[in-house]
Amino acid sequence: MDKNLTKKIAPEAAPVAALEAALEAALEAGEILRGGINSHKDIGRKSSAVDLITQYDHQAEAVIVNKLQESFPDHNIVAEESDWNNEGADHSDFTWYIDPLDGTNNFSHGFPVFAVSIALYHQNKPLVGVVYDPMRDECFQAVSGQGAFLQTAASVQPLAVSQNHRLVDSLLATGFPYDRHHSDHDNIKQFAVFLKKALGIRRAGSASLDLAYVAAGRLDGYWEYKLSSWDVAAGLLLVQEANGQVSNMEGEELLLTPTLSLVASNGLIQKSMVTAINNEAKVS
Ligand code: IPD
Ligand code: CA
Ligand code: CA
Repeated sequence: MDKNLTKKIAPEAAPVAALEAALEAALEAGEILRGGINSHKDIGRKSSAVDLITQYDHQAEAVIVNKLQESFPDHNIVAEESDWNNEGADHSDFTWYIDPLDGTNNFSHGFPVFAVSIALYHQNKPLVGVVYDPMRDECFQAVSGQGAFLQTAASVQPLAVSQNHRLVDSLLATGFPYDRHHSDHDNIKQFAVFLKKALGIRRAGSASLDLAYVAAGRLDGYWEYKLSSWDVAAGLLLVQEANGQVSNMEGEELLLTPTLSLVASNGLIQKSMVTAINNEAKVS
């Protein structure tokens, strides 16, 4: 893939160096994951029996953190798998959010749907977002105010959300939290409500890709509870820059906090999704 993409999509942009570094890091990490998908994995468990980790999560994260630290030594880094996680440390106005392997459960089964997600925020506002799917060699990327793009080996195309305005025509996505075996706040009620209203629901297993697909118009909407900042930091910018909408479950402004629940869509079905969640599937 062409690593000089930034020169094509954002020649004058101030965050061009950040986009370049993020792209380089994402492609390098992606190569590690592509190489690992069909190899032996040492599987560990984190917050619950269904929250997996492999040696490839660590390897991909090390490559990304090293690259970003080398280029931006003063920036904060919030990285899912390591001690670099200094969320809230407030050393700098700039913070990188890194999910080195979004979709570890898929990866650990050889199910080829996962991504590398890297974002840079300035004072809690997104500046740069990259979501890289190494199995399809699809690199979704955005710079604040400059639009969102999909780069493949063949082309660079601007991303735009879909135009469906009825839930019955909408393909939605969601995911289920890692504490679902013990918690009643498990998204099953909401899933049942949307199953009856939408064209279909996909549970692909990678939140960052779900958001990238909303930005690309491949999905019309997405909701999920109990996510982490690194799952969505890049994808939120992709959706916004592709003219979509993101909100919290109440339809209010979404802030990037350590854990968060959200609705993202093409904008046209945002209200219907928020209304359905609050009127028919409210979490008590
Ligand atoms: C997970 C995936 C999944 C979502 C989970 C996330 P991980 O990330 O994005 O789709 O449902 O909430 O934690 O653990 O594979 O990086
Ligand atoms: Ca994740
Ligand atoms: Ca991860």
